Amino acid sequence: MQFEQTFMNFLLHHQEKHNRTYHFLILMDALMSAAKHIEHYYLTGALKGRLGYTDTVNVQGEDVMQMDEIAHEIVIHYLKTTRRVIHVVSEEAADIIPLNVESGRYFVYFDPLDGSSNVAHGLPVGFLFGIAKRNLDGPEDFHLRAGKDYIAAGMFVIPTGTFTVAFKDAGTWRFHIDETMNYVKPVQMILPENTSSWELSFNSANRYTYAEKIQQWLDQNEKKHAFRYLGALAGDFHRILGNGGMFMYPAIVNHPNPKKNRPDGKLRLMYEASVVAFMCKEAGGTAVDEKGMPILDINPESHHQRTALYVGSKPLVDDITAVLKG
Ligand code: AHG
Ligand code: MN
Ligand code: MN
Repeated sequence: MQFEQTFMNFLLHHQEKHNRTYHFLILMDALMSAAKHIEHYYLTGALKGRLGYTDTVNVQGEDVMQMDEIAHEIVIHYLKTTRRVIHVVSEEAADIIPLNVESGRYFVYFDPLDGSSNVAHGLPVGFLFGIAKRNLDGPEDFHLRAGKDYIAAGMFVIPTGTFTVAFKDAGTWRFHIDETMNYVKPVQMILPENTSSWELSFNSANRYTYAEKIQQWLDQNEKKHAFRYLGALAGDFHRILGNGGMFMYPAIVNHPNPKKNRPDGKLRLMYEASVVAFMCKEAGGTAVDEKGMPILDINPESHHQRTALYVGSKPLVDDITAVLKG
């Protein structure tokens, strides 16, 4: 018989090795239960008719899908049961949601269902989360944490059964779901240095809306790499972690309809950009915004703040950073 190490066993050893408490295990267990629950609803979604839209529009002005609401509800439920979460920021809630403000220990920022354009087709989506810790040494001011202050960040790609998570200064790890619905077999993810597998990932239909210098960079560089775009950050970044290269969602500044410009980018800082930037850094890569500033250094001013994002292999991101700063 062959057995693989489970995520929980891996994490227990990790906590032991770093002299950490068991509180974090309870939190991670809840996130995994939530992911499996979302996965179940998603897998049976077409059959049960829940891959469509609701008639509500969220705080971001985007049409809410049934699965967005279902996934949000599931995550809130499981996080509440931990009794260790202070408050959460969810893409699907206008306001910060307090859970256990008095004695909680963690802040959780999440996108319960990432990649809505794939939902109607049952194609890959994600559940992205970032975790920060309460200030245990002094007074807690409940400020929204920058990515560099996260203690962990991760993503489940649904319904493919993969889970990737990074721990502060302890690497990025990938797990696969087994026949008993356990996430098993840790593999450390390190961005490959060999450029032959590198990919570029961006919405090519938007390219003429990018800043001219970004368009020029693409003209000069895109032929060096394969191009892949799934339309779900979780899935696209999953590939970049394995193959290397760069995912980018630049600012939209040259749209023929100026109302459709997005000078601040599209992706959300706290539960999309910082999450992948954190995993990328722990895998040896880096991430910047439209000014070429490190994503992990951005202090959020509001919880649904948007940002442009360039994330992936360091030489590529450094190259485009020079252009962005120039
Ligand atoms: P969400 O479904 O949570 O709103 O996020 C969708 C995001 C992200 O997953 C993806 O990378 C990007 O939107 C795709 O946008 P385009 O359709 O504009 O390419
Ligand atoms: Mn998203
Ligand atoms: Mn979402």
